[in-house]
Amino acid sequence: MGWFTSFWNSSIGQKFVMAVTGICLILFLVIHLIGNLMIFGGADAFNGYVGTLEHIKPLIRVIEFILALIFLFHILNGVSLWLANKKARPVGYKINGSSKNSSFFSRTMIVTGSITFIFLVVHLQTIWYKFNFSGGKEINLYEMVTDLFGYTWYSVFYLIAMILLGFHLNHGFQSAFQTFGWKHNKYTPLIEKTGTVYAIIMAVGFGSIPVYFLFGGGN
Ligand code: HEM
Repeated sequence: MGWFTSFWNSSIGQKFVMAVTGICLILFLVIHLIGNLMIFGGADAFNGYVGTLEHIKPLIRVIEFILALIFLFHILNGVSLWLANKKARPVGYKINGSSKNSSFFSRTMIVTGSITFIFLVVHLQTIWYKFNFSGGKEINLYEMVTDLFGYTWYSVFYLIAMILLGFHLNHGFQSAFQTFGWKHNKYTPLIEKTGTVYAIIMAVGFGSIPVYFLFGGGN
């Protein structure tokens, strides 16, 4: 087990954890987006979809628990890698010409990641927690979600967070593949493009929901 502990604590081990958890989150977002788009079908479509999830509640609870662990490892490792990187290069990018060695997206991962984290806390508190811990009250999730997006600040906050999430995913996607060692003259540009297309689909897909409500949808 000694090799495992030293791999786990090494910077390559931490990067590996980032990549594996990152890929899981990338897949989760695809599923979550497909479910959320039901909002555009109105109350029956959206509540129907939520009702299907309610039928498999025990399984959903297990998935949520695993998802929470994945988020936790991803966030803690990300902060730890960022701190180690900062310690190793205290003056940092000013000396070696930042834009030549790294992209805007890679340099801002800690900022876009932190804002996504703040978004997640607000999101889970205002929707997931209120829905799941309603004290036995029957909740109409469609009504609850549309009421929330009725607040301009809430929709604008979501929209900004989704754009920054797109930035985060744009770098995260290709970075995960790089960590797995898949660097190739032919395939790397393809992976980068796929990552950008994925990030745009996620930002536009999730972002379309607050935009819809900002322009008076759902009434
Ligand atoms: C417009 C954007 C979004 C909307 C309208 C939305 C809506 C919802 C709703 C209605 C739920 C509770 C019911 C359900 O499980 O489907 C939920 C749960 C959740 N959301 Fe979102 N979501 C959005 C974006 C995001 C993003 C970008 C993330 C991750 C960064 C995220 C992470 C989660 C998590 C972790 C849960 C709890 C686990 C789960 O029940 O699936 N959501 N969201």
